[in-house]
Amino acid sequence: MDRIDKILVKQNFGSRKEVHKLIKSKAVTVDGELVTKVDMKVDPSESVIAVSGQALNFKEHLYIMMNKPQGYVCATEDKKSKTVMELLPPDLQRRGLFPAGRLDKDTEGLLIITDDGDFAHRMLAPKKHVTKRYYVETDGEITEDTVKAFEQGIIFRDGTKCLPARLEIIDKNSGYVEICEGKFHQIKKMFNVCRLNVTFLKRISIGNLNLDSNLPIGKCRELSKTEKFAIFVVK
Ligand code: URA
Repeated sequence: MDRIDKILVKQNFGSRKEVHKLIKSKAVTVDGELVTKVDMKVDPSESVIAVSGQALNFKEHLYIMMNKPQGYVCATEDKKSKTVMELLPPDLQRRGLFPAGRLDKDTEGLLIITDDGDFAHRMLAPKKHVTKRYYVETDGEITEDTVKAFEQGIIFRDGTKCLPARLEIIDKNSGYVEICEGKFHQIKKMFNVCRLNVTFLKRISIGNLNLDSNLPIGKCRELSKTEKFAIFVVK
């Protein structure tokens, strides 16, 4: 059970003030009864909420796929840089949404934005073994020794040990890397230990969910149910 005004704010009917106006204008009904109190308690999974005669397709949470461009930070607010939240269309600019995990400012690709904290935790916690796959380019040659070092688990200069990671060589200066944890600048630091610098990095999948190749850079869309579950399908 939640307050009707809170529910409508979350479902993108405007700010709290705007929703109060909507309710006062007699536009909102619950199971056919006019709502007169802004703090009326409703269970949206049990009742039919309608606004101006249109029944609400109630979604408890939102799950958005973004094709993140370079130049944006993964944060809800930042004093210096543009945030990925600024790329959301106005109808998705909803309180409570946050980027699930961080890609560096200069990293591109698949980013999930949601308001579901449990979902984000399941996707990100190393213990849950959800693999994140990246396309990477380097300034020097990736060799079989690099592959072996990744397989054994890279140890950073400060002693931090990474879990074993898969590295597939595409050619001298590019490859695919799979990791299931998200340490700060992890892939760049892993390559640095092998005396290579990452010159381009793009996340292309999370679990079994691939970045939609038809989604232009900087754009986003909601995930389908199947896509949402694909994240947790072990490859
Ligand atoms: N590893 C990095 O170094 N950067 C990212 O953005 C993601 C993984």
